[in-house]
Amino acid sequence: MILRNWLAMVLLLSPAPRYTTALWPIPSSLSRGATAVKLSSVFDIHIDISSPPADLVAAVSRTRSRITTDRFQRLVIGRSTTDISSISSARTLTSLSLALHPGSLVRSIADETNQPITSRSEVYSLAITGDRPSAILIANSTLGLFRGLATFEQLWYDLNGTKYLLDGGIDIVDQPAFPYRGFSFDTSRNFYPVADILRTIDAMSWVKLSILYWHVIDSQSFPLHVEAYPELAEKGAYSAEEIYSQNDIRTIVQYANERGVDVVMELDSPGHTTAIGAAHPELIACAAKSPWASYASEPPAGQLRIASPATVEFAKTLFDSVASVLPSKMMSSGGDEVNLPCWEEDEETETDLAERNITIADALNDFVQAVQGVITSHGKTPFIKSDMVLTHNVPVVNDTVVVVWQTSEDAVSVAERNLRFIHQPSNYFYLDCGAGEWLGNDVLGNSWCDPFKTWQRAYSFDPLANLTEDQHHLVLGGQMPIWSEQSSPENLDPIIWPRLAVAAEVFWTGATLPDGSPRLGPNATSGRNALARLNELRYRLVDRGVSAIALQPKWCVLRPGECDLDS
Ligand SMILES: *[C@@H]1O[C@H](CO)[C@@H](O)[C@H](O)[C@H]1NC(C)=O
Ligand SMILES: *[C@@H]1O[C@H](CO)[C@@H](O)[C@H](O)[C@H]1NC(C)=O
Ligand SMILES: *[C@@H]1O[C@H](CO)[C@@H](O)[C@H](O)[C@H]1NC(C)=O
Ligand SMILES: *[C@@H]1O[C@H](CO)[C@@H](O)[C@H](O)[C@H]1NC(C)=O
Ligand SMILES: *[C@@H]1O[C@H](CO)[C@@H](O)[C@H](O)[C@H]1NC(C)=O
Ligand SMILES: *[C@@H]1O[C@H](CO)[C@@H](O)[C@H](O)[C@H]1NC(C)=O
Repeated sequence: MILRNWLAMVLLLSPAPRYTTALWPIPSSLSRGATAVKLSSVFDIHIDISSPPADLVAAVSRTRSRITTDRFQRLVIGRSTTDISSISSARTLTSLSLALHPGSLVRSIADETNQPITSRSEVYSLAITGDRPSAILIANSTLGLFRGLATFEQLWYDLNGTKYLLDGGIDIVDQPAFPYRGFSFDTSRNFYPVADILRTIDAMSWVKLSILYWHVIDSQSFPLHVEAYPELAEKGAYSAEEIYSQNDIRTIVQYANERGVDVVMELDSPGHTTAIGAAHPELIACAAKSPWASYASEPPAGQLRIASPATVEFAKTLFDSVASVLPSKMMSSGGDEVNLPCWEEDEETETDLAERNITIADALNDFVQAVQGVITSHGKTPFIKSDMVLTHNVPVVNDTVVVVWQTSEDAVSVAERNLRFIHQPSNYFYLDCGAGEWLGNDVLGNSWCDPFKTWQRAYSFDPLANLTEDQHHLVLGGQMPIWSEQSSPENLDPIIWPRLAVAAEVFWTGATLPDGSPRLGPNATSGRNALARLNELRYRLVDRGVSAIALQPKWCVLRPGECDLDS
């Protein structure tokens, strides 16, 4: 007891470490000084590019206005008032200048965001030097400049309208380890209005996430207007108000692209398609068959009658119609959790198979080949779920990107097939796990992917684990999904934020943190390190109207490290 008190005294007396410049994700290279800097009352952002693209001009204007309206104060006891004397003697920054390296193409952020995933340039450098009145942001592309603006916005604290930082002399050269840093969003189990999606895209862009993987339809509802088949949404959506119109889709995609977020749409098939049956019952086997658990992984049962040539034609037209309105160079046909008894007990399917003298495995191969053919004919890279490849051995086009979802350990098997992939492991990244059972009549049931995936668990993920060096190039990145059985607009922000930001840092930094230290290990998730930065991000999100949940009592947040287990 006495020893403990003595230690506490020593800790109190030792100078408090300064946790400023709490950037998230942490830049690949960051050095900082100790000069207090404040923004001039006439601070402005200049774009040194002749005829800058409109979406860059708009991005700059958003940054300028957010820096003005953000009211985030430094997370220390006393908050920003602690810094009054530093602020009064701070140097004044009058401007930030944006420029492209000579020879860089001048394209809109949206155009850059729709380039093939491996040929985007997100590198930027940002300098706020001790003596210059202007900060400088340089990149090879407008997308790189946009990433740099996100960093610039995270640097400032507010005190009564004065924006300042304490560690001026900042030099950042930054780029992501992986280009694919995503959020997978299920808008079928429950519907989300466009405004919720746009708010989510904004917050994603603040942490440099690059992909919205839109799991738009599923067995429960079909909220997507499809030009070729308007009846699918008319009959398959929960209501006329719960449909994404062509205009909504354009709005969402454009909004995302202008914010460095590429929209990869998934039309999950041939499983997870019962809702198609509302308009086209002839296409669906075992529709709502009971007991559902024998025919599907969740109610209602039902999947496409893949052995029927008419169904394959339907799927081709569906993919073609949707692909033609999406600018992304990527599109997914999903493919998880197909159920064989559903087809085996379906008379029509058995008749079709017999007539064509093929097996269900042949039919599945043909189906995947057909939809992948449509996706590639639109110049897009097809994505597929890992069980199609690993469980069903379906042949896929060689540049397919596999979504590894069942367990992180499947990544190795996909790599052994020499296929590119993204990580979406349910044992690390699922944002919905741990909320308990949602089925009725299962009093003591748990969510299938129990327990809850804490930010620390997700943060410990190593994207290169168990892969050989010559397999590293197959990893494009990864994403955290929310499955919406128990989510809706009302809990969207709290269930995804701030945990989703973990994917942003894991895939921005790669296998380790920039200094080579692992994200799992002594002090990695300490209140003095990652947790301090994530706490700050959480308070910044709240300041901007995103209902991100607290990770700790505020007492701990204001006393970095004092709530560590070993503190
Ligand atoms: C991109 O920028 C970096 C420095 O930020 C530079 O070294 C590199 O040569 C540039 N690459 C291209 C393709 O312009
Ligand atoms: C901030 O503004 C409030 C209200 O205008 C004022 O009471 C307070 O003294 C100001 N604090 C500082 C540090 O300027
Ligand atoms: C059906 O296919 C099998 C294997 O491909 C073949 O051996 C058999 O002759 C075929 N039957 C008919 C009726 O075509
Ligand atoms: C796929 O095949 C094409 C043509 O053979 C080849 O150019 C391309 O590099 C291959 N892609 C991958 C990822 O192996
Ligand atoms: C790597 O392999 C080990 C041994 O099979 C396994 O325990 C571990 O979970 C794997 N890592 C990941 C991230 O899956
Ligand atoms: C962890 O942090 C404590 C307290 O700051 C420090 O004494 C210790 O050396 C750190 N351990 C490692 C492995 O960095």
